[in-house]
Amino acid sequence: MSVTVIVGAQWGDEGKGKVVDLLSRNADLVIRSQGGSNAGHTVVVKGTTYQFHLIPSGILEGTRSVLGNGVVVDPAQLVKEISLLESMGVDVRSHLLVSDRAHVVMPYHPRLDGAQEQARGSRKIGTTNRGIGPAYEDKVRRTGIRMGDLRSGDRLAERITELIEERNRQLELVSPDRVCDVAQERKALLEEAELLRPYIVDTFPMTDEALRKGARIVVEGAQGTMLDIDLGTYPYVTSSSPTAGGACTGTGIPPTAITRVIGIVKAYTTRVGEGPFPTEVTGELETLLRERGHEYGVTTGRPRRVGWFDGAVAQYSARVNGMTAMVITKIDVLDTLGTISTAGAYQAGDASYSYPPSDLGAFAACVPVYEEQKGWQKDISTIRSREELPRECRDYVTHLEELVGVPSAAISVGPDREETILCNASLLWD
Ligand code: IMP
Repeated sequence: MSVTVIVGAQWGDEGKGKVVDLLSRNADLVIRSQGGSNAGHTVVVKGTTYQFHLIPSGILEGTRSVLGNGVVVDPAQLVKEISLLESMGVDVRSHLLVSDRAHVVMPYHPRLDGAQEQARGSRKIGTTNRGIGPAYEDKVRRTGIRMGDLRSGDRLAERITELIEERNRQLELVSPDRVCDVAQERKALLEEAELLRPYIVDTFPMTDEALRKGARIVVEGAQGTMLDIDLGTYPYVTSSSPTAGGACTGTGIPPTAITRVIGIVKAYTTRVGEGPFPTEVTGELETLLRERGHEYGVTTGRPRRVGWFDGAVAQYSARVNGMTAMVITKIDVLDTLGTISTAGAYQAGDASYSYPPSDLGAFAACVPVYEEQKGWQKDISTIRSREELPRECRDYVTHLEELVGVPSAAISVGPDREETILCNASLLWD
């Protein structure tokens, strides 16, 4: 048996989709543990680009793929993804299951998300506007509707009507232009419920049996450690737990069953939305990293903020997730640079930190302590072994390993599945 948890070690967008896709080849089951359609994975297979917001990318490998109980599901988005994948020839019906415990992102959730952001004004979080926060709020307040509720035909129309009307009263007060059309939204949701019904099951017996039979399971986290509701840069975070603990609560897999935690570490840093970002860069370097790295949100299209590699963040991630190895992604984006900086710690007045302080004010005041090293200034996208990388690039990889404190299992040198250097396969699978 193996349970491999994939976590983002920074602020999301580390390239987890490609690693999940790689691991899915050797997996019996892939389960997504949290988040919703705020996430976006891009996987490129032989030149074809696949974009996912909800469905685990393992589906491309024909691996049984599950949306776990910790996910919040927007039914319209899920229906759209299923039909898109089917039109590309992917057999979704035979492979996808959705936990009946997963909560539904209702039509009023994105509207409330927008209204809340508007009300925050200059203190806005910069959410993806997908209704994620309000859906999790309802879950925690115990007023949510779960995917399992979409199975029960009798009272469903009535319940949907009541819920939409109740939230409309709230929207009417704060943002009247965001009020839902009850009849239209109810009709759409009932149609989506009908289409999704075959996928919705209690995923516990299947997951439990897989564990008992020694299956190889991959748990796919969305977003990243620094966006974790508890351990991230609160309040500039998402509303779920992208860290390894969330992999357990979001799937029903016990902590004692986890065999590996693989942190996905981008060779530089990006962040979408508001909040402190000590190693952020501006000017020419910002444009270079953003353009070479195609750093635009898959979900929102927003340009991502970019910066140097932040070892304090990555090391913190390694610790709180118990990372057993890392996969370094997008290192090729740095190919043209003459000099590369990395930060291993911060200075804030007289204080120094080797990890991001919990107090947001203190974190915002942190100035990175940089080290510089020579770039390799070569195209490395065709290289397939660590030994063949230019010396400066090998030195960079070793330096990241020292900063993070875990070995690299693989290095991604381009977006395509083939553009991967396997450093130590035993760190990834049995
Ligand atoms: P929400 O998850 O839409 O509520 O957004 C909260 C914060 O998390 C915002 O800063 C978003 O930009 C960020 N966020 C949410 N999902 C992702 C993601 O998949 N990648 C990067 N940032 C994300």
